[in-house]
Amino acid sequence: MTLLDTDPDAGLEPLEFAVTKNLTARSAAEREQILQSPGFGTHFTDHMVDICWSVRGGWHRPRVQPYGPIALDPAAAVLHYGQEIFEGIKAYRHADGSVHTFRPDQNGRRLQRSARRLALPELPVAYFIQSLRELIAVDGDWVPGGEDQSLYLRPFMFAKEAFLGVRPAHKVNYYVIASPAGAYFKGGVQPVSIWLSEDYARAGKGGTGAAKTGGNYAASLLPQSEAYENECDQVVFLDQDGNVEELGGMNIVFVLKDGTLVTPQSDSILEGITRDSILQLAIDRGHKVEGRDVSLAQWREGVASGEIVEVFACGTAAVVTPIGVLKGKGFFDQQPSGSLALSLREELTDIQYGRREDTHGWLHRLDA
Ligand SMILES: Cc1ncc(COP(=O)(O)O)c(C=O)c1O
Repeated sequence: MTLLDTDPDAGLEPLEFAVTKNLTARSAAEREQILQSPGFGTHFTDHMVDICWSVRGGWHRPRVQPYGPIALDPAAAVLHYGQEIFEGIKAYRHADGSVHTFRPDQNGRRLQRSARRLALPELPVAYFIQSLRELIAVDGDWVPGGEDQSLYLRPFMFAKEAFLGVRPAHKVNYYVIASPAGAYFKGGVQPVSIWLSEDYARAGKGGTGAAKTGGNYAASLLPQSEAYENECDQVVFLDQDGNVEELGGMNIVFVLKDGTLVTPQSDSILEGITRDSILQLAIDRGHKVEGRDVSLAQWREGVASGEIVEVFACGTAAVVTPIGVLKGKGFFDQQPSGSLALSLREELTDIQYGRREDTHGWLHRLDA
């Protein structure tokens, strides 16, 4: 069987995007000033992708248009029932000026899984990747070239139909916007402190935990505020059986003293592409990797006994972040520090920025 036989997008014609240039696009000087210090999520490029979907017409009217407000009917289903999904993926500028993204097929597939769970239409992966390429074709100059900088791409899709009945919407739009991002950690990677959420859950069995949908993040805001009140950076969630799930926006990995990497696996956790990649790099180095339940008690006992030698979090935004402290009601556990997380981080970012050979074929060039 050839690859084409197994490719669900085989035979799919590329979309023909209509491009409307932004007449009030920032000048090169204004853009460069923003790219000096872009921060995260506050500046946006001059254009956005917009594709319509309807039950009758399927995916249609693909376009790149000036970045700007979206007109919504007050009865749009997303405003009432939260039928919405999104993705997060970065574009990296290499030393030769070319622009690449990382494993976009994986983000495209995850968007499809999220769509299935939220009863939204599945955008073909080929269209997903094409949408990123189309945006970079007009806004490629917004990919910053500084150390650890990137252009964060935010594809999202929501129910636009004006109808207050509770059922999957018949009209949906898919968009991609982009925001230049500075180095997550200024002056080197810092370990984060984690607050254990005991009163609030992020996901439940059969719920939407594995989907990247706004409601999961809305549910994490109150416990995240609790984390800040307790002087912690991030919150970690447990499942109903007391097993560790993940942080508000990152997966978690434990390193055992025999070099095995253990990460929680369940259908209520978002399957991170950073985690999958880091674990593959660890396997390449000869580490064993296990996806299994880790209870809070096993975590705390493992750290106390020395069985767990490192704990880190991983995700697209911060890549890999060592966990320095776990704090909960009435306890404060210092976490062991090791060097594996940082060396895997370096290997991964070297691949992403084109400083090391991409032996797994993970990079996808966006600007050619
Ligand atoms: C809840 C949650 N878990 C895990 C991740 C990590 O996923 P990825 O590595 O694909 O960014 C993210 C970030 O996107 C997230 O929001």
